[in-house]
Amino acid sequence: MQLGSLVKNRWIKKFIWYIIGAVIVTAVTKKAGFPPLFIVIFNVYVFACLLFYVIIDLPSMKELTGLRAFVYLIVTFALFSGIYIGISSFLPQFNPEFEIAEIRRPPVKLSALSGPEAIKAGEDVFKKNKCANCHKFKGMGTSMRGPNFDLVQIGLKDDKTLKTDIVDPRKEAAKGFDDQKSKTAMPTYFGEEISEDEMGALTAYLKTGWSKDHMPVRGKEDAGPMVRWDEEPEFIALGKDVYEGNLYPGLNCSVCHGKDGVPIMQGARDLRDPNSQSKRPGRDKQKLKDWSDADWFDSVANGIPETPMMGWLQQYPPRAIWLAIIYGKQFSKAKGK
Ligand code: HEC
Ligand code: HEC
Repeated sequence: MQLGSLVKNRWIKKFIWYIIGAVIVTAVTKKAGFPPLFIVIFNVYVFACLLFYVIIDLPSMKELTGLRAFVYLIVTFALFSGIYIGISSFLPQFNPEFEIAEIRRPPVKLSALSGPEAIKAGEDVFKKNKCANCHKFKGMGTSMRGPNFDLVQIGLKDDKTLKTDIVDPRKEAAKGFDDQKSKTAMPTYFGEEISEDEMGALTAYLKTGWSKDHMPVRGKEDAGPMVRWDEEPEFIALGKDVYEGNLYPGLNCSVCHGKDGVPIMQGARDLRDPNSQSKRPGRDKQKLKDWSDADWFDSVANGIPETPMMGWLQQYPPRAIWLAIIYGKQFSKAKGK
């Protein structure tokens, strides 16, 4: 048989239409962000369409009458009910026991918890309050209604700010979320729903959300590229405050590296020099102008052992490190003016 006549064969034609339908449905539902289970269900519908067209094209049967017809009817009914019940028992079920257990779960007693246990308890608080319905975080959630906590590195906020964001979400809208719909999207009842202890656990959990690999960014994920902290005047100004010792007591880069980047302490690195080479182990001779975000973090967070350049992450939060870096980077950029 030739290809042309093969395609004309009505069974093969149906099958080709089916494949086209399945591919389109899968692509569209994937693009629209449906969960995998839904994509499967939509594909089952497409398959049902194929079955339907196959059945109406089957040669018609002899007309049945009397008892025979009745028996056929019962058997067909039983067969289809069996298939339906069989398939649906394989699909995930709504389990009221689980939902009730969620509601009755005793509140977190943070006083008895610390470190990893508090963080684990905080993860439960996050799940119980369905934060991932609007916020992506650590593989949870698909919605872009609220800021993606991985991208904005939510862990760089301090406890107090985080708590205000959660109990009083109308106070200040996150960058990129100041349109009317987003501004009022986050529920205002978490202050009542979440106990003091739970809130402590929740913020401990959120604070694990930061990265030493990339400069933090802000903005709305589905509305164009997000803006790096070191490209925002607001954060460059904050960085200056940190670098000059106005924000974190005891942390002051300028006493050694100079306010204008001209080293004050002898031996301190000249941050204006783009060819200055790193002394961090493993990054031998790497020139400052070639440092990635992660390299900068490595230098400032860990310091240079046995020199006055201490590892600042030992005593200060990651936010302080990123802010100091923002300003430290400006001097080599300004060079040549
Ligand atoms: C119905 C959607 C929705 C739910 C549910 C929700 N949020 Fe939000 N959230 C938003 C939106 C939208 C914003 C951005 C606008 C704003 O700042 O109020 C936001 C902002 C935030 C911010 C500030 C983020 C930033 O980048 O500054 C934090 C922190 C936050 N939410 C935490 C939570 C936590 C914790 C929960 C669960 C207890 C939660 N949210 C539940 C929609 C939601
Ligand atoms: C007490 C003085 C002192 C303070 C405070 C200080 N530094 Fe340093 N820093 C030094 C010295 C000294 C070196 C050179 C060490 C060497 O080359 O052996 C150095 C080196 C560096 C380097 C090069 C690291 C590398 O990879 O070789 C960077 C970047 C740097 N400092 C940034 C900072 C920033 C940002 C701050 C503020 C958070 C800061 N320093 C605070 C003294 C200081």
